[in-house]
Amino acid sequence: MTTYRFPSNFLWGAATASYQIEGAWNENGKGESIWDRFSHTPGKITNGDTGDLTCDHYHRYPEDIALMRQLGLKAYRFSISWPRVIPNGMVPVNPKGLDFYDNLVDRLLAANIQPFATLYHWDLPQALEDKGGWRNRDTAHYFADYTAVMVKRLGDRVKHWATFNEPLVAAFAGHLWGEHAPGIKDEKIALQTAHNILVAHGLSVQAIRSVDSDLQAGVVLSLWPVEPVEDTPENITVAEKTWQEGGDILFLDTIFKGHYPPAGWEKAGDNVPQIMPGDMALISQKLDFMGVNYYSRQLVDVTGERVRPEGPEYTEMNWEVCPPAFYRLLTRLNREYRLPPLYITENGSSFKDEVSPDGAVHDPRRESYLREHFIQVHKAMQDGVDMRGYFVWSLMDNFEWGHGFTKRFGLIRVDYETQQRTLKDSAKWYAGVIRENAVE
Ligand code: FCB
Repeated sequence: MTTYRFPSNFLWGAATASYQIEGAWNENGKGESIWDRFSHTPGKITNGDTGDLTCDHYHRYPEDIALMRQLGLKAYRFSISWPRVIPNGMVPVNPKGLDFYDNLVDRLLAANIQPFATLYHWDLPQALEDKGGWRNRDTAHYFADYTAVMVKRLGDRVKHWATFNEPLVAAFAGHLWGEHAPGIKDEKIALQTAHNILVAHGLSVQAIRSVDSDLQAGVVLSLWPVEPVEDTPENITVAEKTWQEGGDILFLDTIFKGHYPPAGWEKAGDNVPQIMPGDMALISQKLDFMGVNYYSRQLVDVTGERVRPEGPEYTEMNWEVCPPAFYRLLTRLNREYRLPPLYITENGSSFKDEVSPDGAVHDPRRESYLREHFIQVHKAMQDGVDMRGYFVWSLMDNFEWGHGFTKRFGLIRVDYETQQRTLKDSAKWYAGVIRENAVE
């Protein structure tokens, strides 16, 4: 049997996001977020689920950190709820909101777990949405102010700061497909939103560095490589064209090359965003790390349509399980961009977990999904990709956006009735990987 050993300082972790796990949606001075508003709107979320309580992590974080410790996690990626610390997004700050993250960080450090903070994982203060949200460029400046508040408070202990989680999803799922808050469907708005978020990213990086130039600033991108369903020259060409015109490359090129991708720009026609002088330099400032969120690939046929052939394994999200595409993505990025060190900031799978009569959750498919993806990352590292850590999505089952509680991604099972946590088999297996720093 082959043993894939990782570098001794490789950071094994798990990830979550504020709206998906915290609950306490209106407690201790927290303001309303666009996800509170969206989930409270009938018809938006499967079963009418909301994040009002979800995993109740706001109250149970000591127990959750004890579980992280049991797993042996070396790092934990979480996001900060902007409206919890600045209820209307502008001023004033809510001291109790800041205290929550302060206590969380202290407890993580006491458990020897490195905190990785994400400043925006989609829960914009509703008060800012009422002023035009990300369509309004002012929001980018408020975001920089909020960044400074957080970094001043936590920067002595939190060394890694990601500005945005998946700006593509925030811009497009929220403003083009209408599936996420605030539920808009308009390409012109979506592209301006994407641009304003990129400006916010740039201003936020500046804010982080002006508080402490030694901090590590980065961004987290969702990447779904486009691949041909058939290995014909025609299909390969079409798949490449789809990638060139798509959303993933929009964020890669603007952030790491300082310009919009030409094919997508042309395709957008009159819907291209308004860009102010200096924006592209701001957006493409050098970063200290990049986070990669990888779940699956997009398969297209010769017409460029997404297809779902029978045969491959699919997760509960209907996402194809395709570990080799992960390797191809990482090595391609490494060839085509001058990237800072990479972290896998999300990778994981949702399956229909059952609780066995013995109380255990046997989830061999999740274990095998993770194992195969770890091996692909190992392979990419062998081929020279500078990768520093890996955060499994997710630490625990949680509110999966539009799908509510119907999709379970956790290493830890959450019983939403009793709030009981149970380590799934995959969690126990992962603890072994971390202990050995190797995958078999
Ligand atoms: C990503 C999100 C994360 C989670 C996973 C399944 O796009 O960043 O919050 O929902 O998908």
